[in-house]
Amino acid sequence: MICSASCRLSRNIGRRDIILRAMSTLEQSKKNAAYEAVDNHIKSGYVVGIGSGSTVIYAVERLAQRVLNENLNVRCVPTSFQARELIIKYKLNLTDLDIDYKLDVCIDGADEVDESLNLIKGGGGCLLQEKIVASCADELIIIADHTKNSSQLGDQYRKGIPIEVVPMAYVPVKNRLESLYGGKIELRLAKMKAGPVVTDNGNFILDWKEFDQNLNWNEVSTKISSIPGVVEIGLFVQMAKKAYFGMTDGTVKVQE
Ligand code: A5P
Repeated sequence: MICSASCRLSRNIGRRDIILRAMSTLEQSKKNAAYEAVDNHIKSGYVVGIGSGSTVIYAVERLAQRVLNENLNVRCVPTSFQARELIIKYKLNLTDLDIDYKLDVCIDGADEVDESLNLIKGGGGCLLQEKIVASCADELIIIADHTKNSSQLGDQYRKGIPIEVVPMAYVPVKNRLESLYGGKIELRLAKMKAGPVVTDNGNFILDWKEFDQNLNWNEVSTKISSIPGVVEIGLFVQMAKKAYFGMTDGTVKVQE
């Protein structure tokens, strides 16, 4: 059928509306998960780890509301430059691990969560500080939209498992990983700059794609972490206590 210019225009507007609606549903699901987790897991007097990514923005927003409305007294440890800026923007109390090295809770996003609560993290390049801060917290609570909820790592998230490496070691680490586990390993490149992404800690990131999904993540994580030049791996094995997923129907699914 021949489509006129006005017919094409209305088709395009229809498609754009569908995309916009899907986007706002996704944002709403992140917000629902974040608000519920903050309400359930943060009390006055707590030291709170603030994760990184787009879902955490809603957690900080909710925390700021509670500080104002309930006179909640919390101190916040950032997991990245982004998290630090958020804490400052929302006028929350900023602290760090030198002062507060024991945290009550850490609230963070994830790129993927499997049925045993193992995580892929580091899509935003903040895996190292995220893992350090989470390891200092009594509990790590994950907040995410429903697209992050999967049965096996690699089912949903195709951008790979991030591995932070010292710049001079990225080629030997890449080769070592390929010969140990196969798959495809790519140096993460910046979008608005020629060259690699440089993390908040001055390192590079390798993204390990097309990996065997049936590996023992505990063993893999230990083995990869021991390769000279590897700073941290974005596999968080048995670290999370609960995950809150915002669903498309507006409910929040809690996995523990
Ligand atoms: C940052 O490095 C990641 O670990 C994030 O926590 C993860 O990418 C989740 O981000 P979103 O909340 O934007 O999905």
